[in-house]
Amino acid sequence: MAGFIKDLRDNGNTLLIRVSVIAAIGGLLFGYDTGVISGALLYIKGDLHATSTAQEWIVSVLLLGAILGAAISAYSADLASRKWTKVASGAVYAIAAIGCALSVNVPMLIGFRFLLGLSVGTASFVSPMYVSEVSPPRLRGGLVSFNQLAVTSGILLSYLVDFAFANVPGTWRWMLGIAVLPGLALAIGMITVPHTPRWLVEQGRGDEAKDVLDRLRENDDETDVDGEFKDMEEAVESEKSSRVRDLFGPLMRPLLVVGVGLAFFQQFVGVNTVIYYAPTILQGTGLTKNASIAQTVFVGVTNVVFTIVAVLLLDRVGRRKLLLIGTGGLTIALAVLGVYFWSPGLQHHASYLALIALMFYIASFAIGLGPVFWLMISEIFPTGIRSKAMALSTMVNWAANFIVASSFLTVTHWITRQGTFFVYTGLAVVAFLFFAFKVPETRDRSLEDIQNDLVGDRRSKLESATQG
Ligand code: BGC
Repeated sequence: MAGFIKDLRDNGNTLLIRVSVIAAIGGLLFGYDTGVISGALLYIKGDLHATSTAQEWIVSVLLLGAILGAAISAYSADLASRKWTKVASGAVYAIAAIGCALSVNVPMLIGFRFLLGLSVGTASFVSPMYVSEVSPPRLRGGLVSFNQLAVTSGILLSYLVDFAFANVPGTWRWMLGIAVLPGLALAIGMITVPHTPRWLVEQGRGDEAKDVLDRLRENDDETDVDGEFKDMEEAVESEKSSRVRDLFGPLMRPLLVVGVGLAFFQQFVGVNTVIYYAPTILQGTGLTKNASIAQTVFVGVTNVVFTIVAVLLLDRVGRRKLLLIGTGGLTIALAVLGVYFWSPGLQHHASYLALIALMFYIASFAIGLGPVFWLMISEIFPTGIRSKAMALSTMVNWAANFIVASSFLTVTHWITRQGTFFVYTGLAVVAFLFFAFKVPETRDRSLEDIQNDLVGDRRSKLESATQG
């Protein structure tokens, strides 16, 4: 487990670590907003006289903004660069956080939450993309997953902020406004980092790209920097075009199925019902409101701790193994939750079982599907089409998040809570099979190698088919 840290210390360099940490602030914004609103809403509804429909909009408009934000950055990450797209994302976030904090009525708050969403949707995939494009293959899994670590830390931080500001006048304004700090940190921090070498090569700025790559690989005795650079140039040269239409062509479609499948299942195994509704689920086990909020913090801590485990293991054990083990674990946890809510006996005699199952669920998600989705979509697509393909996978992820979050309470009403967990269990089984059959291993291979393996073979088959 210590391998990743040792390798980072011996062969990583300060620039690489600094840029990966700064880029990961994008994840913090994402996580903070995922977690903060449930607590803030308790105060907003009284202050701004928000009806329940208005409250639903305040929560979910961010997810809609994120879908649009991801779509816009598909273009800006190519045209304006990964770096400047992230600077813009941090600046928009800072403005939107202040706007939310100063909102005087519901429409204003909804408007600024939408703006926050634009920024979060952008950051959610441009962060992993940026880090993936600067990392050496051996460390890429851990470094890219700093982002997921920041997401989970952001969620935990939001619980703590909700708790800290609970008795301060103007509570919710502080909860929402304090997010200006990470927004500014991202915007300013990203101004200080270089462009990714792959983006520079795409732009025909080869000399600058080589210079950045040399700086990123200083002290790294294990990487053949010239070879890495040559592969990058060749890969970019061999790509023909990068229009959205190409995503659906025979060459790219199978990869898109992997990205979109991971995106879909990451949400449809119900992770955000646990994140958004953990206190509600726990209250359903007979706990008081305060006890259920306190126990939710355990769920948040477990999420962070097991994401650290994932960061340490992804480059040793590999993505696929962790993905399959994690998905297996969360399937069991979902089944246990279903049985728990189905059995009055268990609820009566073993109410602790729900908390254990929730913690086991989140730990399993955190070592597999949580980081692996964002990591994998930053690895499997060729450079020229990467931003569009990642954007599309990200949009599917946010749309699925929206559907699951906005339907959870209604669905539990229709088919009971146990019924809902059984449906998630079924979906998790399908997810497991999909991953087992479709998801490739990408550990310790350069992005160009992965791209060659996944696309190259198919390209030559297609070419020989059309020639023949
Ligand atoms: C997911 C989020 C989720 C978070 C929980 C992320 O990978 O995309 O929707 O809230 O993990 O840790």
